[in-house]
Amino acid sequence: MRSLIDILDFSVEELDELIGVANDIIANPEAYSEKCKGKKLATLFFEPSTRTRLSFEAAMLELGGSVLGFSEANSSSAAKGESVADTAKTISCYADIIAMRHPKEGAPLVASQNASIPVINAGDGGHNHPTQTLADLLTIQREKGGFNNLTVGFCGDLKFGRTVHSLITALSRYEGINVVLISPDELKLPSYVKKDILAKNNIPYKQTTDLESVMPELDILYMTRVQRERFFNEEDYLRLKDSYILEPRKLKNAKPDLCIMHPLPRVNEISVAVDDDPRACYFKQVLNGKYIRMALILKLLEEAKR
Ligand code: CP
Repeated sequence: MRSLIDILDFSVEELDELIGVANDIIANPEAYSEKCKGKKLATLFFEPSTRTRLSFEAAMLELGGSVLGFSEANSSSAAKGESVADTAKTISCYADIIAMRHPKEGAPLVASQNASIPVINAGDGGHNHPTQTLADLLTIQREKGGFNNLTVGFCGDLKFGRTVHSLITALSRYEGINVVLISPDELKLPSYVKKDILAKNNIPYKQTTDLESVMPELDILYMTRVQRERFFNEEDYLRLKDSYILEPRKLKNAKPDLCIMHPLPRVNEISVAVDDDPRACYFKQVLNGKYIRMALILKLLEEAKR
C-alpha cells in the first residue's frame, strides 16, 4: 500500500506528475468534480491545524468524495490511551484514505505500517510536513517556472520548522540550488539535515543571522514562525520569537521577482503591510495546497486499486 510519509517517498518524476495534475485541476476543475464519488477521506488531527486539515477536506469534497475525522486528540479514543497503530487499523474499516497530523515524530509512519489504506503525513512533530512541501513546490513551479538554479533563503525557526526540513529535502534533488540559512544561533537547521541532505547532495549553503545582508541574493525567501509549541521553556520562546520581522523597508534591496513564501500561520514575522507587495506568495501557497492535495488523493487512491 502506497502512502506519503516523507517527500522522498515520491520520485522527481512523480512530483512532476502531481504538479501537472494540480495545474490541470486549476484549469479544468469541473473535470475532477466526481473523481472520488463514493470515497471517504479520514482526517485524524492530533494537533491543531487550519490550512492542512481544511484544505484536505475541501480537496476531497471538490473531488466529489466525503470526509470524516477529528480535529483534536481529546475528541478521539487517543484520550483513553488507544495507540496510533490501533487507531489506524480502526479507521481502515471506515475510510479509503487517511490524512494524519501528530505531535510525535514518526506517528504517521506507524499508522501507515498498520493501516490497510493509504496514509498521508499531514505533519509529524518537528520532523516533516510533505504535503506543505507539495504546496510549496506547486507555488515555486507556478511563480518561477521550475526548480533549477534558485537561491532559496530559509528564515526563522529552522530547528523546529518541519516545513523547512521537508522543502530542503525536496529541493536537494534539483540542479543549481543554493541555500541560505538565516536564523538565531539557537534555532539553526539541525545538523542531520545539513549532513544527510545538504552535504550529501553537494548543495552549497551558508548560515547567517542577518536577513538584510543576504536579501539581494535571494530568488525565494521562505519565512517561518518561531514555534512556541516546540519550546521547552517560555523564556526562550519570548526571547527569540521576534528575531525576524519582514517589513516593506527590508525588501528595498530584494530582487524585483523575489518570491516571498511562508507556510503560515504567521504571528509577527511578516508585517501585514507586505501582503500588498506583488512578491508576497503566501496566500497563493494556501490555495495551491488544496489543488496539490486533490492531485495527491487521486494518485494514492488510484495506486491503492492496483
Ligand atoms: N501550513 C500549515 O501546516 O498550516 P496549519 O497548521 O494551519 O495546517
